[in-house]
Amino acid sequence: VRVKVQTAAETSARTNMADQKKILCVGLVCLDIISVVEEYPEEDTDTRCVSQRWQRGGNASNSCTVLSLLGAPCAFMGSLAAGPVADFILEDFQKFGIDLSLVSEHAQCVSPASVVISNIHTGSRTILHMNRDLPDVTAEDFSRIDLAQFKWIHWEGRNAGEQVKMIQQVEKFNAQLPDRQRIGISVEIEKTREPLYELFPCGDVVFVSKDVARHFGFDSPEAALKGLYPRVKKGAVLICAWAEKGADALGPDGLLLHSDAFPPETLVDTLGAGDTFNAGVLHTLSNGGSVQEALTFGCRIAGRKCGFHGYDGIR
Ligand code: ADP
Ligand code: FRU
Repeated sequence: VRVKVQTAAETSARTNMADQKKILCVGLVCLDIISVVEEYPEEDTDTRCVSQRWQRGGNASNSCTVLSLLGAPCAFMGSLAAGPVADFILEDFQKFGIDLSLVSEHAQCVSPASVVISNIHTGSRTILHMNRDLPDVTAEDFSRIDLAQFKWIHWEGRNAGEQVKMIQQVEKFNAQLPDRQRIGISVEIEKTREPLYELFPCGDVVFVSKDVARHFGFDSPEAALKGLYPRVKKGAVLICAWAEKGADALGPDGLLLHSDAFPPETLVDTLGAGDTFNAGVLHTLSNGGSVQEALTFGCRIAGRKCGFHGYDGIR
């Protein structure tokens, strides 16, 4: 079992050994074109914004940003088009010292982008996402990587069929290693897309969103965890974040864990709060922390993030 409460000696032994190893996040990077407004606009009106900015986005990419701000060595694996948008994205990744050696370029494709309306008074973010033709990384791409450099690999659920095969490769790699040296495996099931549910039995840690929980008819994190736990593999931890309600987790011992949210003084920007929470959880667990510590830390930094624009204030 990868995720458990460890003794201080075990934690420190594991931390020292794993210190140099990276956390890999596999998923999307896109451009976020963010317009900050005082009030959510009516359709077919002409609104003057408070500010506008370009920001590197995408769940896996945002989690890498936060991991790097937390001082954790990390790598991003995903696809990139070519041109000025891709250059902006690459330069920003580099600014954060995120390892890009596993990024594949598709020069003929269009860069995915989101137009985001960010309401400064409520912190709400309304996302219009476009991804025309950029392919996701495949199990074949993944088979070429040297897994020994990673202590944890996180998948943002996307092309689930391929991602299942990638995870099987890591499980095979793990099978020849002592428990302490195994790579942690986590998956995020955020979108309500049937094929993604194939990922439930794949991770040591499974993040399920409130959207997916609601889609299954659950109206609280507790209900979602109890109802969805039979889908995860033996020994896994299922985690469900729920905005201002904080986040809950359920593991093999059947104990429901909870952290309250840590709301900032003023709620400004919730874009990427979930990705920030995930990064906080991964950071804690991959350093040998307990699930309760991970939940609390995830909520703490996600809450802090909601108090300012972007991610830089996490530092
Ligand atoms: P997302 O919609 O970005 O996926 P979630 O709603 O899942 O984000 O929230 C992730 C975490 O971010 C929550 O567990 C909570 O800790 C924090 N968070 C999000 N929204 C708020 C809020 N309005 N107030 C306080 N914390 C929040
Ligand atoms: C936030 C985010 C944005 C991106 C969108 C894609 O969680 O990753 O950065 O535009 O979601 O769905």
